[in-house]
Amino acid sequence: MKKQVLEALNWRYATKKYNPAFQLGTNDKQQLEDIIQLSPSSYGLQPLHFIWIEDTKLREKVKSIAMNQQQIIEAAEVLILCAYNQLDTAYLNSHIDNLRDKRGLQEYQVANFRSHLLASIGTKSDDEILAWNDKQAYIVLGQLLTACALMHLDATPMEGFDPKALNELLSLDSLGLHSVLICTIGQRATDDNYQKLEKVRRDKKSLFSKR
Ligand SMILES: Cc1cc2nc3c(=O)[nH]c(=O)nc-3n(C[C@H](O)[C@H](O)[C@H](O)COP(=O)(O)O)c2cc1C
Repeated sequence: MKKQVLEALNWRYATKKYNPAFQLGTNDKQQLEDIIQLSPSSYGLQPLHFIWIEDTKLREKVKSIAMNQQQIIEAAEVLILCAYNQLDTAYLNSHIDNLRDKRGLQEYQVANFRSHLLASIGTKSDDEILAWNDKQAYIVLGQLLTACALMHLDATPMEGFDPKALNELLSLDSLGLHSVLICTIGQRATDDNYQKLEKVRRDKKSLFSKR
């Protein structure tokens, strides 16, 4: 397994051209949703929502606000990773209620966590909450990319789009959401030359040190 992880991470690349005929198996999509659901998040809050873009005409519109990246049309799946615009008290309380009930706990056993969470989130500004929620989407992206590689699915993480235009297109504001990332998933085209390129990474000497 250790070897397979590194093999998969070397095999994956940000795919530029997909095989448009390729479709994911039903189980694959289910598994991707499980992987996303299982992603860790700060305090377990998951202030996130995920939208599969299946409609062809809608994909065209997304592409036009995503630097015309062809992957949005040709990939088997297009996923929009969205984050909440805020974290209100009701949401925080319902998270703790859910945790208490799922784990069969009494209120007194979660009371400290509840007050800590309400206090710590309560001190954050709106901008800090936005940035914090967005970070949780990036954690999902990392997990999703690794999982796709292990499943031998190709994927492309994307920040190359106009988030405001995408929010408008999908009416995200009315849902209390905004777009953070796009991830396309499918199978690489055999003539996507990017798959042949050498990986470019900073050397470990500059990435790691010991104290
Ligand atoms: C957050 C994020 C945003 C990215 N946005 C795009 C994008 O919009 N379009 C694209 O083709 N690649 C995008 N990439 C891919 C990176 O360029 C790529 O991961 C990096 O150059 C390393 O190459 P590799 O993933 O092929 O190993 C993005 C990657 C990340 C992590």
